[in-house]
Amino acid sequence: MTSHILIQLDQITKVYQAGEVAIWALRDINLVVKRGEFVAIVGQSGSGKTTLLDILGCLSRPTNGTYWFAGQSVESLSEQALTVIRNQYIGFIFQTFHLLPRKTALENVQLPLQYAGVSSKEQSLQSLTMLDRVGLLDRAQHYPTQLSGGQQQRVAIARALVNQPKILFADEPTGNLDSCTGKEILSMFQALHEQGQTIVMITHDHELAMNAERRVTLSDGQVINDESVLSSLSLLQDTHELDS
Ligand SMILES: Nc1ncnc2c1ncn2[C@@H]1O[C@H](COP(=O)(O)OP(=O)(O)OP(=O)(O)O)[C@@H](O)[C@H]1O
Ligand SMILES: [Mg+2]
Repeated sequence: MTSHILIQLDQITKVYQAGEVAIWALRDINLVVKRGEFVAIVGQSGSGKTTLLDILGCLSRPTNGTYWFAGQSVESLSEQALTVIRNQYIGFIFQTFHLLPRKTALENVQLPLQYAGVSSKEQSLQSLTMLDRVGLLDRAQHYPTQLSGGQQQRVAIARALVNQPKILFADEPTGNLDSCTGKEILSMFQALHEQGQTIVMITHDHELAMNAERRVTLSDGQVINDESVLSSLSLLQDTHELDS
């Protein structure tokens, strides 16, 4: 039987050493993410959101505590094993898109498949399918500078998903987009979530966070709130019904 738990953090702490000063970016974080969940992580600037996502995405290691990814302790894994996990199980989306400027949309989407050793024929087939899913088949041969911000982010989404990752991490995915384009990207996330994709998204925007099913609030490196958004919405509705 497969576990419903995809991610589990036990007492995770991250301390940065900046010269003489120790910065406690994360303190004793306990967090469980189940398969299929759509979680928003919110919190003020400097509260530790990116630090947390970097650890979740196996881009950096915690100072203390244990991170379980799909039942495996990440601590025990070699750099090589972590690279495989990042490449095959994790999709990443960033505020500034992080597309390679000298590669076309198609070539950017192909990269993870290339690293995974997929044949070039399969690479283009799967990448074109993904570009089609994000509505950019007609832009496959365009370079990032020839695309709008929203289109670049859609290419980044296609690249993040082309390997069918177990989880999609997004750090302020709409931060560089106007609100209308941001909503478009968010509805894409919701559609993915409805298809079963597990998503953890960082956002400053409370309205965006309301679209996730769960909201985790960080403050000064600690989880100060972890709530189901749907239940708070239905609570609002209930109160409303009582009022009327
Ligand atoms: N490489 C680093 N070296 C030293 N301190 C760091 C480093 N990276 C982050 N910090 C510190 O750790 C804390 C958490 O930073 P982090 O980037 O995780 O915050 P954040 O919630 O993502 O903020 P923002 O919303 O501004 O992106 C901050 O106090 C920051 O100054
Ligand atoms: Mg950040």
